[in-house]
Amino acid sequence: MALRCDLIIRDATIFDGTGAPRQVGDVGVSGDRILGVGDLGGASADREVIGTGKALAPGFIDAHTHDDRAVLCGPQCTLCKISQGVTTVVVGNCGISLSPMRHTAKRPPAPLDLLGDEAWWTYDSFGDYAHALKTKGSEVNTYALIGHQTLRVEAMQGDVYRPAKDVEIARMQARLKQALAEGGSGFSTGLYYPPNAQAPTEEVIAVGEALRGSAGIYVTHMRDEADKVCASIEETLKIGRRIGVPVHISHHKCSMPENYGRSVQTLALIQAAASMQEVAFDVYPYPAGSTVLMPEKVRDDSRVIITWSVPYPEMAGKDLSEIARGWNTDLRAAAERLTPAGAVTFQMDEEDVRRIMRHPLSMIGSDGLPHDEKPHPRLWGTFPRVLGLYTRQLGLFDMETAIHKMTGRAAGVFGMVDRGVIREGAYADLVLFDPNTVMDNATFEDPIQMSVGIEQVWANGVLTFAGGKETGEKPGRLVTRGR
Ligand code: ZN
Ligand code: CU
Repeated sequence: MALRCDLIIRDATIFDGTGAPRQVGDVGVSGDRILGVGDLGGASADREVIGTGKALAPGFIDAHTHDDRAVLCGPQCTLCKISQGVTTVVVGNCGISLSPMRHTAKRPPAPLDLLGDEAWWTYDSFGDYAHALKTKGSEVNTYALIGHQTLRVEAMQGDVYRPAKDVEIARMQARLKQALAEGGSGFSTGLYYPPNAQAPTEEVIAVGEALRGSAGIYVTHMRDEADKVCASIEETLKIGRRIGVPVHISHHKCSMPENYGRSVQTLALIQAAASMQEVAFDVYPYPAGSTVLMPEKVRDDSRVIITWSVPYPEMAGKDLSEIARGWNTDLRAAAERLTPAGAVTFQMDEEDVRRIMRHPLSMIGSDGLPHDEKPHPRLWGTFPRVLGLYTRQLGLFDMETAIHKMTGRAAGVFGMVDRGVIREGAYADLVLFDPNTVMDNATFEDPIQMSVGIEQVWANGVLTFAGGKETGEKPGRLVTRGR
């Protein structure tokens, strides 16, 4: 009997996500799964797409996001993802997750407020958040980490500029355990940020003990990505060994001019550890970072662009140096006046960025900030930029490797079963794109720009993006580690 599919994409150049060489062929989809790969000449389908000359890959996995709220608010928040070919996002990074915490009194301490002001903190349990995801629906699949700072603010009742007490640690551990049982997949920290920097390594290990039973993953925005980057990597590895879980370093970088070039050292350190414990990292393809504006960290040798400001919203998009000149103050005083605020900081060496991206343990994560007024361009451009600029134009790696870093590698590290790969039986998360034209358009000056070359995107077999627009479908699901 001839194979009958809901959808067949014919004659495409298939990159299966494993890094294996491309192959021209057909992919058939039935329901939410891939039914067949190869020559499907004898099969028929309700819908057929001719993929001649186009690349077909597993839908991209954005390994590092702050989309906790974005996944709940419809295509105006997720078009930046699906227009890049993204079908799954990892939320809850850098210690910042939208649950479990109900915090209605006042604006949560930075950087928790990257996700929104006090009005947005309404999920007392991860189960409540997962329920909202299910009832509201989403364009993308969501894989969730539980944030240390979220747990801290809740357990320490906002008094977070100190180490946690034993009873608070016990509460955090219990709430993390519950969140993992309700569908969370791991624990994230942002030890770099002032409130969480107060947490000693032992606090992190004690809270993270909750991961042990659930085989979760530990993900971290490390304590220091500058002078003490190597000590921070050691701390991360130690936490992983003590809890007995895999570790993942977020947005790996060597920050600030005096540390440029040190990725040779950091990558060697990570590589050596990888033979003894599970370790991975993500990276975004830009020499500038972005987070909340921290006045005590601004320096005159690193350009800063304001991305949002509560007291001065009109300053979004302007250089801090320009604002300071206008106000006749120094950078720090200007930054103090602008907070609460966000900023882009040029703090990396392009050679480090490329070396980190090229390393076999790396994967791609945007770290995009979806609620910023004038966001870092990584929000709209990351994946097409890696494919267009770094792969096609600069030849940093071949297309197979680039796609692996966006799909199979991320699915493997995070334990996303049957995703990130094109093979019979896997979920039909797919992206069809033009390998000859794919490119980002978002820039630091004009960051809200859709990329070119991404033609059609399906999540769980359902079309989410085509013809430069969202379809309005919400096939996204909660993805849980190992399930
Ligand atoms: Zn971070
Ligand atoms: Cu982040």
